[in-house]
Amino acid sequence: MATLSLYLLLSWVFLLSLFRTRFAEVLCHADESSALMEFKRSFRTNTTDQKCIYPKVHSWSLDGSVDCCSWDGIECDEFTSRVIALDLSSSCLSGTMSPNTSLFRLIHVESLNLAFNSFNFSSIPYGFSNFSRLKYLNLSNSDFSREIPHDISQLSELVSLDLSTSLPETLHLLNMGNLVYNLTRLKELNLSCVSLLSPIPPVLANFSSLKSLGLRYCGLNGDFPVSIFQLPNLEVLDIGGNSNLSGFFPKLHWGSPMKLLDLSNTQFSGEIPASIGNLTFLNELIAEDCYFSGSLPSSLGHLPHLTWLILLRSNIQGQIPLSFANLTQLSILSLSGNNLSGDTLEWMINLTKLTVLNIPDNRLSGGFPSSFENLKQLTWLDLSGNDVHGDIPSTLWNLKDLEVLGLSSLNGVLDVNHLFKLKNLRLLLLSSNNISFTKPFINTTTWKITHLILDSCNLTKFPQFIGHLSKLVRLDLQYNRIRGTIPMWMWNNTRESLEYIDLSHNFLTGFENNQTNLPLPNLMYLDISSNLLETALLVLPPSILLYNISNNFLSGEVPTSICEVSSLAVLDLSSNALSGTLPHCLGNIGPLIFLKLGRNKFDGMVPHIYPDDCALRMIDLGENQLTGTIPRSLGNCRMLEYLNLGGNQINDTFPFWLSELTYLKVISLRSNNFHGSIEAHLSQLDFTNLHILDLSNNSFIGELPSKLLQSCHTMKVVVGQDKLTYMNIFQLLHLPFGGVGGSMTYAMTLMNKGTEREYRKIPDLLVAIDLSNNKFEGFIPELIGDLKSLRMLNLSNNFLIGSIPPSLAKLIVLESLDISWNNLVGEIPQQLAWLTFLSVFDVSHNHLSGPIPRGTQFDTFGSNSFAMNDGLCGSPLPNKCINGDNAPPPPPSFKVDNEEESLFNLDWRIVLGGAGGGFLVGIVLENLIITKKSRWFMYYSQKMAEGWKR
Ligand SMILES: *[C@@H]1O[C@H](CO)[C@@H](O)[C@H](O)[C@H]1NC(C)=O
Ligand SMILES: *[C@@H]1O[C@H](CO)[C@@H](O)[C@H](O)[C@H]1NC(C)=O
Ligand SMILES: *[C@@H]1O[C@H](CO)[C@@H](O)[C@H](O)[C@H]1NC(C)=O
Ligand SMILES: *[C@@H]1O[C@H](CO)[C@@H](O)[C@H](O)[C@H]1NC(C)=O
Ligand SMILES: *[C@@H]1O[C@H](CO)[C@@H](O)[C@H](O)[C@H]1NC(C)=O
Repeated sequence: MATLSLYLLLSWVFLLSLFRTRFAEVLCHADESSALMEFKRSFRTNTTDQKCIYPKVHSWSLDGSVDCCSWDGIECDEFTSRVIALDLSSSCLSGTMSPNTSLFRLIHVESLNLAFNSFNFSSIPYGFSNFSRLKYLNLSNSDFSREIPHDISQLSELVSLDLSTSLPETLHLLNMGNLVYNLTRLKELNLSCVSLLSPIPPVLANFSSLKSLGLRYCGLNGDFPVSIFQLPNLEVLDIGGNSNLSGFFPKLHWGSPMKLLDLSNTQFSGEIPASIGNLTFLNELIAEDCYFSGSLPSSLGHLPHLTWLILLRSNIQGQIPLSFANLTQLSILSLSGNNLSGDTLEWMINLTKLTVLNIPDNRLSGGFPSSFENLKQLTWLDLSGNDVHGDIPSTLWNLKDLEVLGLSSLNGVLDVNHLFKLKNLRLLLLSSNNISFTKPFINTTTWKITHLILDSCNLTKFPQFIGHLSKLVRLDLQYNRIRGTIPMWMWNNTRESLEYIDLSHNFLTGFENNQTNLPLPNLMYLDISSNLLETALLVLPPSILLYNISNNFLSGEVPTSICEVSSLAVLDLSSNALSGTLPHCLGNIGPLIFLKLGRNKFDGMVPHIYPDDCALRMIDLGENQLTGTIPRSLGNCRMLEYLNLGGNQINDTFPFWLSELTYLKVISLRSNNFHGSIEAHLSQLDFTNLHILDLSNNSFIGELPSKLLQSCHTMKVVVGQDKLTYMNIFQLLHLPFGGVGGSMTYAMTLMNKGTEREYRKIPDLLVAIDLSNNKFEGFIPELIGDLKSLRMLNLSNNFLIGSIPPSLAKLIVLESLDISWNNLVGEIPQQLAWLTFLSVFDVSHNHLSGPIPRGTQFDTFGSNSFAMNDGLCGSPLPNKCINGDNAPPPPPSFKVDNEEESLFNLDWRIVLGGAGGGFLVGIVLENLIITKKSRWFMYYSQKMAEGWKR
C-alpha cells in the first residue's frame, strides 16, 4: 500500500512539474506584446506629476523578459496567456491618447485601468466596443476631455465603470440613459464631474446589482427617482453638488445596505423620515446645504455604525434627539447653521470617538455638558452662536488634542487663563463675549495659535499675549473699544507670520511713535477702518492685497509709492480728509479690483492710466473736488460694474464710450459740470446691465436721452425676489486662510423723498433714473414706459414740454415719480392711479390741468404734490372740478403683481447706518485645516475651491 501511495505521489509531482514547464513555455503573444510596446512608446512618463506613484511601463521591454505577462501592470490568462487585465493607474503616463490606440488590439482584456494619468485633455478614443469581454473600466482622473464615446454603451458585460474626474466641465455625455441602458450588470458606476446636464435616467432604478453610484457635480436636474433608494444592493450613493436636482427621502422602504449617502448642495427637501433608522449599515450621512423641513428623527441615534453625520445649513429644526447618546461610533458631527434647539448637551458625553463636534449657529440652550472627560479625541469643538451658558466644565481644558475651539456668543464666564492649557490650539474663536485678558503676563511662546478671533469682545486694550504668538496668521479685533495708539510690541513675535489683521471699528488714534511703517513683511489683509486715526497714510508692505483705512481722520496726500504695491486688489481710503492730486499711476496697479477714494478732499484730474488688462470692478471717487475730464483710458476697465464720480467739478460731455463696458450696473455723474446733448449722439448705445443712472445736477441739454434709455434692457424686466438682497460684488481673494471670498456692497448717495442721503447698501431690486436739475427739453418719451422695473424716476427741474405719457402707468413697481418744475401741460393720466407702490409723487410747478386721479395711492399725496399748476382740480386741492368730483380711474388693462415688495417703504435706516460698504469676509472654521490628510480636510478643501462661505 505504502509503495503504491508513494508511486502515486511521485507521479503527481512529475505531472505537476511537467505542467509547469509547459506553461512557462507559452509566453505572451507577440501581437499583444508589440501592441503594449507601441502603447508605451506613445507616452512620456512624468514622475513629477502629482498623480504619479510609479511608472509601471519602465519594466516593459522586449530585450530582457519578452514575456509581457510578467510586466508590471499586466495580467494574462493562465491557460491562453492572453492579456486579460491591464492596470496602469497612477503610472505617470503623460501625452495625448491616439484615436486608434494600439490598446484596442488587446481584445481579450476584461479589466482596464488607466486612472490617474495625464492624457493632455485628449478625447477618450472611440473603439471600446472591441473589448467585448470588458468587465471593469476605469479612466478616471486622467485628463480626458470632450464627449464620452457612445460605443461604451455596448460593453454589456461591464460590472464597473468609472469615468469620473475632478475637473468639472471637461468631459461631457449627451445621453446618460443611452450609455447605461444595456449595462445592466453594473455594480459600480461613477461619472462624477462629467457634464450630464439632464435628469437621472429612470432606467437606473432597475439596476438591481448596483452597489455604488457616484454622480457628484454632474449638473443633474429634475427629480431624483426615489426608487433608487430602494435598490437592494446599493451601498454608496453620492449625488452631491447637483444644485438643480430635487428629491425626497422615501417615507418607508429603503434598500437596506446603504453605507454612504451624500446629498450635499442639492435641492433635496421634505422631512428626514424616521425610516432612515432602517439603514443599519449607514456609516456616513452627508447632506449640507439642502432644503429639508422638520426635525432630526430620533431613529438616527440608533444607527450603530454611523461615523459621519454632516447636515450643515440644511434647514433642520427641533431638538437634537437624546438618542444621539447612543451613536458611540460617531467621529464627526457637524450640524452648524440650522435651527436646532435643545436644552441639554448631555447626550454628547459618552460619544468617545468624536473628533469633530461642530454645531455653531443654532439655538441650543442650557448648559455645557457636565463633562468632556470622555471626549479625549476631540480636535474640533465649535458651539459658537448658540445660547449655551453656565460654567465651562474644567474637563474641557484637559482636551490636549483640541486644535479648533469656537465659543463665541457665550452667555457664560470664560476664565481665559485656562485657555493657555490647550497647547495644541490653532484656532480660537471667541467673538461676541465679555472677556478681559487681565493677567499681566502669560508666557504663550509655545502656543501654536494661528487664528485668533476676538471681535466684539468689549476689549479696551490690546491683550498682551498677542505679542508672543509666533505662529499667528490671522488676528481679528474689530468691533471692540480699544483706545489709543497701536503698540509696537504687538509685532514682537508675530511679524513674520501675520498675514491678516482686522482692527476696524475701535477707537484707535494712531501708531506708537507715529510710526507709519508696519514691520510686517507678509501682511496681505489690513483693515483699520472706522477708527479715529489722525495719521498720514501707512507705508504698505509689498505683499498687501487689501488695505482699508476708510472712515478715519487721515490727512495729507497719497504718495506715488502706493503704486509700488504690486498685489493690491482692494484699496479703500474713503471718508477721510486726504487731499492733493491723485497719483495717476493708481489706475495702473495691475490687480486692483476695488478703488474707493470717495469723500475726501482730492483735487486735480481723475487718474488716467488704465492699462488694457484693467481689472477694476468698482471705482468710487465721489464727493471730492476733482476737475478736468474723464480719462478715455477708463474704457479699458471692461469689468467695471460701479462708477461713481458724483459730487466733483468734472467738466466734460457725456462719456458715450462707457457704453462699451457691458457689466456697468451703476453710473453716477451727479453734481458735476457735465454739459452738452446726449440724445444727439449718433451711434448705438448699449447699457444692458444698468440699474442706476444718476446724471442729476449737471448742465445737460437737448432731448431726454431716449436711445440711451432704450438700451437699458435690465430695466425692462421685473424680477421677483424671495428675500431682500443688496447689490454687491463677490470676489474671491486668495487670502492666507484658505481662499475665502469676500463681497463689497455698493454704497452711494441717492435722493429719496426729496432728501439726499448716503446709503451704505443698495437693494438689488433698486432700478433708478435721476436726470433732475439739468436743461433737458422736449417731450417725455413714451418708451420710458418700457422700463418696467423702475422704482424711482426723477425728471424734475428741466425744460420738458408736452403732456405726461400714459405709458408711465406701465411702470408697475414705481415708488417715486418726480416730474416737478417743468413745462408740462395737459391732464395727469388717470391710469397712474394703478401704480400701487407709488409713495412719492410730485408734479408741482408745471402747467397741468384737469382732474387729479383718485384711488389708492393718490389719496395719500398732499397738495404740495400738485401745487403751482394752471388748472388741476379735485382732492387734495381746494378747487373742485367743474364736472363734479374727480372720477375713479378705469380698471387696469393688465395684471398687477401685488406680490412685489416696496423698497422705499422698507426701513431704510438699516441701510443708512452701521457696517456695509466694506469688504466683508466670512470666518469659515470649516475652511481651516485640521488634519491635513483626513477626508474631512479633503472634503472641505474642495468646498474652498468652490468659493464656499458661511
Ligand atoms: C510633469 O508634471 C508636472 C506637474 O504636473 C508639470 O508641471 C510638468 O510640466 C510635466 N512635465 C512634462 C514634461 O510634461
Ligand atoms: C441595447 O442592446 C440591444 C441589443 O443588443 C440593442 O438593440 C439596443 O439598441 C441597445 N440599446 C441601447 C440604448 O444601446
Ligand atoms: C423601517 O422604519 C419604519 C419607521 O421607523 C418602521 O415602521 C418599519 O418597520 C421599518 N422597516 C424595517 C424593514 O425595518
Ligand atoms: C440607547 O440604546 C439602548 C439600547 O438600544 C436603549 O435602551 C436606550 O434607551 C438608548 N438611549 C437613548 C438615550 O435613546
Ligand atoms: C454614559 O456612560 C455612563 C458610564 O460610562 C453610563 O452610566 C451612562 O448611562 C451612559 N449614558 C448614556 C446616555 O448612554
